[in-house]
Amino acid sequence: MNKTIEMINNRVSLRKYEEKPISKEHLDLIIKSAIKAPTAGNMMMYSILKITDAEIKEKLSKTCDNQPFIKNTPVVLIFLADLHKWFKYFELSGIENVKSPGMNDFMLGVNDAVIAAQNAVIAAESLGIGSCYIGDIMENYETHKELLNLPNYTFPAAMLTLGYYPENYNRKFVGRFDEEFVVFDEKYKNIKDEELKAMFELKEGTFPKTNPFNAKNHGELIYKRKTTADFSVEMERSIKENLEYFLGNKK
Ligand SMILES: Cc1cc2nc3c(=O)[nH]c(=O)nc-3n(C[C@H](O)[C@H](O)[C@H](O)COP(=O)(O)O)c2cc1C
Repeated sequence: MNKTIEMINNRVSLRKYEEKPISKEHLDLIIKSAIKAPTAGNMMMYSILKITDAEIKEKLSKTCDNQPFIKNTPVVLIFLADLHKWFKYFELSGIENVKSPGMNDFMLGVNDAVIAAQNAVIAAESLGIGSCYIGDIMENYETHKELLNLPNYTFPAAMLTLGYYPENYNRKFVGRFDEEFVVFDEKYKNIKDEELKAMFELKEGTFPKTNPFNAKNHGELIYKRKTTADFSVEMERSIKENLEYFLGNKK
């Protein structure tokens, strides 16, 4: 196994960091690696927010579904899909009645942002810096808009916490679905009911001890969490609100 593959396989989401800042040299390398990621039409329809301010991190630890480790993270990076800059530029280029960015722009911006984020993850890992994605940055649209000064036509597609692995950190590896359920040759394969149940067997084994939704099995637990948990409902509301601009319903 070469070193890159070994590193990818050895990576875990890190939520506890050494109490020291990330060196400027390392942070620069991470950012430069993110920016080197492929990007649709080489348009770089994204921006990266580099956050070290304690007050902002403290706020994010609350607004991102109360995850205290965020405030103890040396660096937070937020990857925004950013169509604001391009559409402003179109206006400045003398185009009349510039139409709003659409869903195509939104999706390409999100792709660009997430691909850049994953380059940052891999670069960081190679420097002994662990990371964790925080999906909850997609919640609380209005609060984050104000906190981070986000213009319309931007969307926080990914957030990363970054910090050095603690010494002798005991990595706990989480399983993945078997490849046969995820990778199909040539065309999509419709998985039979029995196979689908087998796919989730591993997950059934990890049924949590607490069962806040009074679910009868793992499937019901995840379904109820997805459809009724506050963070989940809030995330959907937030994303829909932001999309109103990309759909042209709001200016
Ligand atoms: C889009 C996305 C959002 C995530 N959001 C969170 C989060 O809010 N909090 C957290 O602790 N981990 C979060 N994670 C990390 C996952 O829980 C983690 O990747 C998964 O459990 C597999 O573990 P591993 O990365 O250690 O292999 C997120 C990961 C992704 C890709």
